[in-house]
Amino acid sequence: MRPGMVKPTGRAARFDEHELIVSKTDPKGRITYANAVFQRVSGYAEAELLGAPHNIIRHPEMPAAVFKLLWDRLGAGHEVFAYVLNLARNGDHYWVFAHVTPTLDARGGLAGYHSNRRVPYADALQKVVPLYAEMRAVERRASDYRAGMAAAGAVLQGALDRAGLDYDRFVFALSAHTGLGARAA
Ligand SMILES: Cc1cc2nc3c(=O)[nH]c(=O)nc-3n(C[C@H](O)[C@H](O)[C@H](O)COP(=O)(O)O)c2cc1C
Repeated sequence: MRPGMVKPTGRAARFDEHELIVSKTDPKGRITYANAVFQRVSGYAEAELLGAPHNIIRHPEMPAAVFKLLWDRLGAGHEVFAYVLNLARNGDHYWVFAHVTPTLDARGGLAGYHSNRRVPYADALQKVVPLYAEMRAVERRASDYRAGMAAAGAVLQGALDRAGLDYDRFVFALSAHTGLGARAA
């Protein structure tokens, strides 16, 4: 199943607040592990997921600039937290609050990546949905993919500047449940 092949239904797929959606990838982002919750919520069998690129669950409304930020940070050896909209096999969507980390081998070399995702906080989503919609709209209007990502990155940077926060603080300040005493967006 390639990205773009699955048509969004507009229906939300649900998972419980106590559940974690877990996956691991190799250094190129190909899936090497997907837990039972991942399989159930995405609707893909383990055999379909193993070896598949992680963009198998990419939703067309997700700004490319968010994934650029993710890969830039992972490439620099940092962990990343991000709100992500995903697309299940049947076209249903589900929002997650994701934590993605590099996995290192005993010599400090890159062995792959690991991600845990939980149900996002509703108050954060109220801010993330319009922010990502604006970023995606800017990407669509741009003359090419790179220009679009740069323009969407500027939209995100504008939100960070208005909040007076760097990305790591901003993403937690989006919800009163994770907030650091600052207001974002
Ligand atoms: C550990 C890990 C977890 C990821 N989880 C997701 C995810 O849940 N949803 C998603 O769309 N992309 C996820 N990605 C990013 C994808 O690899 C990919 O960059 C993204 O879907 C955008 O697709 P594209 O790079 O083909 O444009 C993850 C990457 C890694 C390394």
